[in-house]
This record gives sequence, structure tokens and C-alpha cells, in this order.
Amino acid sequence: MIYRFLCAFIAAAAGISAQAQELLPARSALDDRAINEAWSQAWDDHLHSGKRVPFTPPSLSDIPEGEFGEMVKDGMQAFMYPALYASDYVGNELACTNCHLDIGRRAGAAPMWGAYPLYPKYRGKNKQVNTMEMRIQGCFRYSMNGTPPPADGDLMKSFLAYFSWLSQSAPIGAKLEGAGFYSLPDPEQEPDITRGAEVYAQWCATCHGQNGEGERHVDTVGWVFPPLWGAESYNWGAGMHQPGKASAFIKKNMPYGLQNVLSDQEAWDVAMFINSHERPQDPRFTGDVAETAERFHTSPYNLYGTVVNGAVLGANAYPAGRAPAN
Ligand code: HEC
Ligand code: HEC
Repeated sequence: MIYRFLCAFIAAAAGISAQAQELLPARSALDDRAINEAWSQAWDDHLHSGKRVPFTPPSLSDIPEGEFGEMVKDGMQAFMYPALYASDYVGNELACTNCHLDIGRRAGAAPMWGAYPLYPKYRGKNKQVNTMEMRIQGCFRYSMNGTPPPADGDLMKSFLAYFSWLSQSAPIGAKLEGAGFYSLPDPEQEPDITRGAEVYAQWCATCHGQNGEGERHVDTVGWVFPPLWGAESYNWGAGMHQPGKASAFIKKNMPYGLQNVLSDQEAWDVAMFINSHERPQDPRFTGDVAETAERFHTSPYNLYGTVVNGAVLGANAYPAGRAPAN
């Protein structure tokens, strides 16, 4: 069968080339090379122009059959329910998909297909080149207030399988459109907790609760509406505690289902407000809030270590997760 197909293919190719010789002007090998070079040059220019490369991840219905496909599905499941499928490593019941929306597929919510082609890369946070495994471990330690899973275990393998499948055919090293968070301009006015409280009451409290406590699923672990502060939330080391990151996430993605209703200023203000409450301790805590603030909390508008409502933030933090002290 394959043999017959091959023969037909060769015959057709030969036929076309004979026809082409008669009807079309001859195209030399040099022309072909020129065309190839021009094409790859344009692509290369695009990759290095600072412009983002458009990308659409594959549809979930296209997950392949077989062992690789099963591994991809395991990774997807752990991403949706880490408290069930990665329970040894989480210190809260958040899910990866609570922040990386649509199971890590939503543009502008730090999608996994936007991250995967960029690693290994240098990160200022820990001043070294990070692998994708280290990045995932970071979200376990801080966002999940837990402990990093081993880099070579089945759990990690399943995340990598899911992310690489999502990123298939994305150019390695390219910044894709929709990767990370959409950037938000610096605030026009200094972000303000009091104004943020008003935004919160109007736009957020119905789902996330008056006290940021969220709402649990009744029939399984995890949250219908995740908590935004308190013992069950991400810890003081997580990216979301930085008003710059939280505001960019919120502006594009919240209130859930009503994107882009907040002004930039409102997004900054409400990000300040949610991060003006206590949450679990930064696992890098040195034993001293001021020193920890100085070493790790230098991003703009970072509230850790400052006085809010008469108390130093970080001084009454909830226990950090189960991370080893490293
Ligand atoms: C509380 C919110 C939150 C949760 C929960 C969370 N993350 Fe993240 N994650 C973030 C933020 C914020 C960033 C930083 C995004 C940025 O800097 O653009 C990030 C970044 C990442 C990145 C790198 C993205 C990039 O564009 O470089 C990966 C990979 C990642 N997270 C994986 C996970 C995994 C896996 C889980 C679940 C085990 C998880 N995250 C849970 C908030 C969260
Ligand atoms: C209609 C309900 C709803 C409203 C209103 C809403 N959210 Fe959310 N929010 C959600 C849901 C649901 C998720 C988790 C999404 C998922 O798992 O797919 C979420 C996730 C988040 C997260 C990331 C998860 C975490 O625990 O940190 C933040 C931050 C957040 N919301 C902030 C806000 C802010 C600020 C507002 C108001 C401007 C707001 N939300 C309004 C439903 C809502």
C-alpha cells in the first residue's frame, strides 16, 4: 500500500516537473536558495524585531492517543487540581488554573505556551539561569505556598509534557503575543489602598468575599472563587503579591467574565488593596521583617514590611508552607 502510494507520488512529481519545464520559465537552484533565504531572513527579523509572534495553542481535543497523550492529560489534571494530584507539594488549595486561566491557555494570563519556549532563561528573582522545572518549583513554593516537587519526578514530567504539547510549533526563544501578562502603564496617581477598597467592594467582593476569603467547592477540594488574602492564599513571596503584576493580571482578567471594565488606575488601586492584607510568610523570611523586605521586596509599591492600619505587614503573617529552608 505504502509502496503503491510512493510510486504514484514519484510519477506525479515527475509529471509535474516535465510539464513545468515546458510551460514555466526555468527556476534555477539559485532562485530556490534566494527564496529560502529571503523567507528565513524575514522570519528571523520578525523574531528579533521586538514584535511578538502570533500563536494559537492546539485544541484540547487534539491531545494525541498513546503514552505521551496520557502524560499530557496527567499534567493538565494536576494543573487543574494540584490539591488532589500534587497533594504532597501544596500548602494551599489554589489551582494553577486559578491564575493561569483556562488551564494555562488564556492569552494575557501568563499562559504556559508563552513561557515554555523561553526557558532556560535568566531571572533577577534568584539571580541565575532558571530551567522550566525551577520555574514550576517556584510557583509551588510561593503561589501554592508549598514545597517544590522534584525536577525529575513523574509530576514534573507531566507538567512538561502538557506545556510542550501546548507550545508545539512555537519558535524556541520567541516572545509570543499574549505571553505573560499584558503590560500596564505606570499609574498616573500613586496607587491608593482606600480607593482600592472601594473598587474591591464594587467589583470583586461578590465573588471573592467581603474579607477576601473566597468560596470553596462543596463537592471537591479547591475553590469556586479563590481567596485573595489570608492563610489560604498565595504567600508573600509570590508574584501576585507585587501590585505591578497583580494589577496587570486584574486589568485584563478581572472581574471574571467582564474583562477591561476597570480603568488602569482602578486596577492599580485594587491590586494595592488586596496586597495590603496579611498572607502566609515569605518562605525566604530571614527572621526579621525589615531585613526580608530589604532583600526581597524592592519592586515598586511593594507593601511587605510597611505599616498599614497600624501594623507592619509581614509581622503577623500566617505560617509559610512546607518548603525546606533553602
Ligand atoms: C496565585 C496565582 C498563581 C498560582 C496559583 C500559580 N501561579 Fe504560576 N505564576 C503566577 C505569576 C504572577 C507568575 C509570573 C508571571 C509574570 O511574571 O509574567 C507566574 C509564573 C509562572 C510560570 C512562568 C510563566 C512565564 O511566563 O514565564 C510558570 C511556568 C508557572 N507560573 C507555573 C505554575 C504552575 C505549574 C502552577 C501550579 C502548580 C502555578 N504556576 C500556580 C501566579 C500563579
Ligand atoms: C464573577 C466572579 C468574580 C469576580 C466579580 C471577580 N473575580 Fe477574581 N476570580 C474569579 C474566579 C472564578 C477566579 C479563578 C479563575 C479560574 O480558576 O478559572 C478568579 C481569580 C482571581 C485572581 C487569581 C487567583 C488568586 O487567588 O489570586 C485574582 C488576583 C483575582 N481573581 C482578583 C480579582 C479582583 C481584584 C476582582 C475585582 C476587580 C475580581 N477578582 C473579581 C471570579 C471573580
